[in-house]
Amino acid sequence: MSELSNSRVGVIGAGTMGHGIAQVCALGGYDVALFDPMPGAVDRALARIGENLDKGVERGKVAAADAAGARGRLRAAGTLRDAVADAGLMIEAVPEAMELKERIFHEADEAAPADAILASNTSSLSVSRIAAATGRPERVVGLHFFNPVHVMKLLVVVRGRATSQASVNASLAFAGRIGKEPIVVTDTPGFASSRLGVVLGLEAMRMVEEEVASPHDIDRAMELGYNHPLGPLKLTDVVGLDVRLGIAEYLHGELGGEQYRPPEILRRMVAEGRLGKKSGRGFYDWEEK
Ligand SMILES: NC(=O)c1ccc[n+]([C@@H]2O[C@H](COP(=O)([O-])OP(=O)(O)OC[C@H]3O[C@@H](n4cnc5c(N)ncnc54)[C@H](O)[C@@H]3O)[C@@H](O)[C@H]2O)c1
Repeated sequence: MSELSNSRVGVIGAGTMGHGIAQVCALGGYDVALFDPMPGAVDRALARIGENLDKGVERGKVAAADAAGARGRLRAAGTLRDAVADAGLMIEAVPEAMELKERIFHEADEAAPADAILASNTSSLSVSRIAAATGRPERVVGLHFFNPVHVMKLLVVVRGRATSQASVNASLAFAGRIGKEPIVVTDTPGFASSRLGVVLGLEAMRMVEEEVASPHDIDRAMELGYNHPLGPLKLTDVVGLDVRLGIAEYLHGELGGEQYRPPEILRRMVAEGRLGKKSGRGFYDWEEK
């Protein structure tokens, strides 16, 4: 199976997903450069990774030597160019906006080695379209991680229209090295996961609107009745309501089905800044937890 051209990874965006991606890459033995233009974002991400690693060691899930090794393989990059200049793989985890991702891929294409693979962690946007912003669409893939990245096993490898089999193979080898279980899907709106998962989340919100049951009880129905580890509303809180709204709007536009139309309650909560866990409040109150 082909591998990446080298073991350096540039992670672009150090938010909810980017910090977790940086962590699992460093634990998997990759040298990781993390870039985010927001002042303080990379420092916060590195601090969070440090806390996660400490907890992992305390709980016996990570060997102390592995955690120390991972810390040593992480660095802050001052620019995108610096993060990808000598990388074998770039993983982009910036907000879900096509123009932003196109801009980043264009810049990364100019700065990264010619044989580097450029990957997007997009939840729903077209990988083929993102790839078209580069001169190497055969080396562009989707690598869709799940939140929290260090816990969730699944890694969806998204094959764009022009993605080569060698790039898919290298992505599968990468997934194995960082301990994830990969699946390969063709580039279609919502891939395999968001397309199903978002429908469940949106329908649960409509049920809250109709006062069918409380968020807690709707979640319990799925947790206890269907063996979902997390109910759809709690999951929405963890993912971020703004992220979910963006995905729903995109899928509604692309696939057209009524099941993807964002419910009023979602729009209202996002407008009020109730974004879920990251803002302290969503369908649940996270402040005390
Ligand atoms: N949150 C989830 O559960 C989840 C799951 C899977 C995939 N995703 C996808 O991952 C991506 C990131 O989502 P997130 O939840 O981590 O978002 P987030 O808002 O937590 O983090 C995004 C980060 O990108 C940074 N950023 C903004 N502009 C940038 C630029 N030009 N260059 C570099 N960094 C920039 C921001 O400062 C922020 O720190 C999105 O495409 C999202 O759809 C999210």
